[in-house]
Amino acid sequence: MAKPLSLIMLIVPSIFMVMLMQCSSCPAYQKQSLLQFKSSLLTTLFNSSYSPSDILILHLESWNSTSDCCKWDRVVCGLRSRDITALHLDFLFLMPLQDPIEVNARILDPVFRIRSLTLLDISDNSIQGGISGKGLANLTKLVDLNMAGNSFNGSIPAELFSLKFLQLLDLSRNSLEGGLRIEVGKLEDLRTLNLDENFLEGNIPVQIGNLTKLQQLSIRQNKFSGGIPDSILNLKRLEVIDLRNNQLVLQIPSEIGTLSYISTLALSKNSFTGAIPRSIFNLSKLETLRLDDNKLSGEIPTWLFEMWRIKNLGLGGNNMNWNNNARIVPKFRLSQLFLRSCKIAGEIPEWISTQKNINLLELSDNQLTGRFPIWLAEMEVESILLSDNMLNGSIPSHLFQSLSLSFLDLSRNNFSGKLPENIGDANQILFLMLSGNHFSGPIPKSIAKMRRLFLLDLSRNRFSGNTFPVFDPDDILTYVDLSSNELSGEIPVSFCKETKILALQENKFSGNLPRNLTHMNQLEQLYLHDNNITGKFPKFLSQISTLQVLTLRNNSLHGSLPSNSFSNKSCLRILDLSNNNLVGSIPSELGNLNGMTEVHFTPSLLTVFSTSSIELNDLFVNWKTENHLIVNWKKVIQDLSGHSFDIYSLLDLSKNKLSGDIPASLGNLKELKQLNISNNRIAGNIPQSFGDLESIETLDLSNNIISGVIPESFGKLTQLSVLDVSNNKLCGIIPRGRQMDTMNVLSYFANNSGLCGMQIGVTCSRDEPTPETREQDDTSGLDTWFLWAGIWIGFPLGFILSVFVIFVSGYFYLPPTPKYYSIQYRHRV
Ligand SMILES: *[C@@H]1O[C@H](CO)[C@@H](O)[C@H](O)[C@H]1NC(C)=O
Ligand SMILES: *[C@@H]1O[C@H](CO)[C@@H](O)[C@H](O)[C@H]1NC(C)=O
Ligand SMILES: *[C@@H]1O[C@H](CO)[C@@H](O)[C@H](O)[C@H]1NC(C)=O
Ligand SMILES: *[C@@H]1O[C@H](CO)[C@@H](O)[C@H](O)[C@H]1NC(C)=O
Ligand SMILES: *[C@@H]1O[C@H](CO)[C@@H](O)[C@H](O)[C@H]1NC(C)=O
Ligand SMILES: *[C@@H]1O[C@H](CO)[C@@H](O)[C@H](O)[C@H]1NC(C)=O
Ligand SMILES: *[C@@H]1O[C@H](CO)[C@@H](O)[C@H](O)[C@H]1NC(C)=O
Ligand SMILES: *[C@@H]1O[C@H](CO)[C@@H](O)[C@H](O)[C@H]1NC(C)=O
Ligand SMILES: *[C@@H]1O[C@H](CO)[C@@H](O)[C@H](O)[C@H]1NC(C)=O
Ligand SMILES: *[C@@H]1O[C@H](CO)[C@@H](O)[C@H](O)[C@H]1NC(C)=O
Repeated sequence: MAKPLSLIMLIVPSIFMVMLMQCSSCPAYQKQSLLQFKSSLLTTLFNSSYSPSDILILHLESWNSTSDCCKWDRVVCGLRSRDITALHLDFLFLMPLQDPIEVNARILDPVFRIRSLTLLDISDNSIQGGISGKGLANLTKLVDLNMAGNSFNGSIPAELFSLKFLQLLDLSRNSLEGGLRIEVGKLEDLRTLNLDENFLEGNIPVQIGNLTKLQQLSIRQNKFSGGIPDSILNLKRLEVIDLRNNQLVLQIPSEIGTLSYISTLALSKNSFTGAIPRSIFNLSKLETLRLDDNKLSGEIPTWLFEMWRIKNLGLGGNNMNWNNNARIVPKFRLSQLFLRSCKIAGEIPEWISTQKNINLLELSDNQLTGRFPIWLAEMEVESILLSDNMLNGSIPSHLFQSLSLSFLDLSRNNFSGKLPENIGDANQILFLMLSGNHFSGPIPKSIAKMRRLFLLDLSRNRFSGNTFPVFDPDDILTYVDLSSNELSGEIPVSFCKETKILALQENKFSGNLPRNLTHMNQLEQLYLHDNNITGKFPKFLSQISTLQVLTLRNNSLHGSLPSNSFSNKSCLRILDLSNNNLVGSIPSELGNLNGMTEVHFTPSLLTVFSTSSIELNDLFVNWKTENHLIVNWKKVIQDLSGHSFDIYSLLDLSKNKLSGDIPASLGNLKELKQLNISNNRIAGNIPQSFGDLESIETLDLSNNIISGVIPESFGKLTQLSVLDVSNNKLCGIIPRGRQMDTMNVLSYFANNSGLCGMQIGVTCSRDEPTPETREQDDTSGLDTWFLWAGIWIGFPLGFILSVFVIFVSGYFYLPPTPKYYSIQYRHRV
């Protein structure tokens, strides 16, 4: 399949040109070490599945054997000794958004020979494996160590805690767990480390307390568990503590207030309990306090509002009570406020209007009522997140005069009325999310003036009319959801080349599928079900080689399926054409659909944003995992959206007027999980090749005129959990097999021409046609009943499919102009 290699330019933040005029060169062994590092990196990258042109290697060109390594990019040498003192090896390469390249941690071995290093930054390089303790033990002079954004795993090696000059330690965004790793043979050197105390699995090692010069500690987004060790209170110089997104528990140490230099205390997304420690009030330098998404309880303390330096405050997603009656006169001037799920009732708290510098306001999932306040519309806030409340009325048009507004999420409230015609004046908007309200009237054309618009979600409202904004094809609108409205007319196609998801289902669209759909040549998901689309299934859709999901269920397509509309270049993995008026036979070319024959991952679907805040990333990720993929799955119309999107593969041709035989080629679709060709006029036999559908869970062949036997090969199907062959002309023995033996729903075999087998409790007579030559059970009816009962106990529920959730996270930088985007991504299983 063609790989969608979209926009992946990156702005590398910290590349330093060294401009020191020195005559002597760096030590030869250090140069050798770095050249060795470079060459093993290149080897890894070029041995990956990508062609070299797909990989961008950043700022290593100057590293060659003829030049002085002190003059290389990314390298800083000492002034006198000419030893290398700093290595800025962050973002060494970029690759397409498919399977990330894994770089083995051993690649760092040569770097560990450079003992003169005081700064080592190897962040964001997809390095995988354990952190080398012996290696770090060499770097005794380290002051700054940044290993963030890789896939380091296992525990932190004990040697790290002997780096006594360390001031900055950033291990965030890895897969590290707690405990201490001791490399054999090194115990001697570690006597000072007080090893007895700390083998509690998963905990942050108490030895952290030995890094007494530490000023910044970040272990965000790893797998640490247990409580915060008290030894952290030794780190008197700490300014930044970022432990977000781990599995930490217990109370926040009550003496945290003794770390008087702290300016950032970020503990969000853990499971801390208890109340907010009173001593936090003593942190007179505190600017960022993020406690959201924990299990903190008690009242939100009023003294917080006295802490005048706080700029960034997050308390949402806890069990804390909000004293709705408190008259708050805050002393702080916030720039960001996160109060999601705080049970705040009544109107949007008025004290927020005193926060003139606020740029992010999150009040989602409270019990807010009343209207959108005019004062808020006038405040020029960049991100306003008010979803899941009960706010009503219309949106003040003043809001859209804001030139700061970039994220607006008002989803799932009771807002109503028309959208203001001037909405497009807010041309800095990136995310416009208004789903689940009662907005009506046409979609204002001026929305197309939002040249930075990236995600537009107007679904689940009462928008009507047949006029749509016409976007510049070169704009960046990537995700569009207009579903569940009352929109009519032809399918709108005036979106952008970058558009990846287009959801138009559950409207009143009519007419043929427009050819101009192919202008969206990055389209991955196209949802058109439950409309009134007519005409034939078009050939041109196959030109969109990136298309993975196409739903046209419940429309009025007619004519036959053109055989040349399905090629092995397609990566369709969900194709739902059910409930139309299609005629003719099932094209055998469907068996070529590559997306259904091979495993494909689409990490880009879960790309995470990073703007000023990870909350906006979450907002986006949540959006992407919400209700789009609604299909008939295992007999029920259900929502398969979510992280597990990648694992579904479905072909639904049911409820049409298809005839002819089933093409044997369908057996190629080894990744297919559900095949539904029921309610057609399909004749002939079930192909033997169906036994090759090794992933199939649901097979619905019911309500056709299929004859012959169920092939013996069905015994091989290990994932099968629903098999419906009712209302056909099948006969003979139902084959046996691990899963076949559990197919015991009588109605799924009903109305055939003589099926028999233990599954349905019908004894086969000796002259029953057999699927193939095979040994006949000649047990009598009664005995077999007991035998079957035993099997049912053994396999009561069939086999439960394991669901692998793939998280992909990374960065999304917003450049000053709307054209170039940078995406970094990582895979995490
Ligand atoms: C090595 O890099 C320097 C710049 O750092 C460049 O001037 C020189 O031409 C390069 N030599 C070779 C052989 O590529
Ligand atoms: C430590 O540094 C020495 C001298 O540069 C080197 O020989 C040794 O291999 C390094 N150890 C590790 C584990 O890299
Ligand atoms: C770390 O990751 C590597 C590579 O995926 C794996 O082989 C190793 O077992 C992992 N180690 C731990 C402790 O999980
Ligand atoms: C490390 O910390 C322990 C107490 O946690 C202390 O006994 C030991 O002396 C410290 N070692 C160093 C090298 O500072
Ligand atoms: C705050 O600091 C003062 C003075 O250092 C001290 O007396 C008080 O106990 C501290 N409060 C808390 C709650 O730690
Ligand atoms: C389809 O695209 C062509 C240009 O290729 C354009 O002229 C035409 O207006 C488009 N039609 C619609 C309905 O957008
Ligand atoms: C088909 O779509 C229409 C809307 O176009 C909807 O009203 C109807 O309920 C849908 N039918 C089924 C069976 O889902
Ligand atoms: C795809 O189909 C074309 C023509 O039908 C064939 O030549 C080619 O080998 C096929 N490619 C794969 C990967 O199956
Ligand atoms: C197959 O499609 C029919 C008609 O669209 C539907 O009623 C049935 O539930 C589907 N079967 C499965 C297993 O989902
Ligand atoms: C079998 O056919 C009869 C008569 O057409 C029908 O009433 C019954 O519902 C069918 N059974 C099943 C399970 O479909």
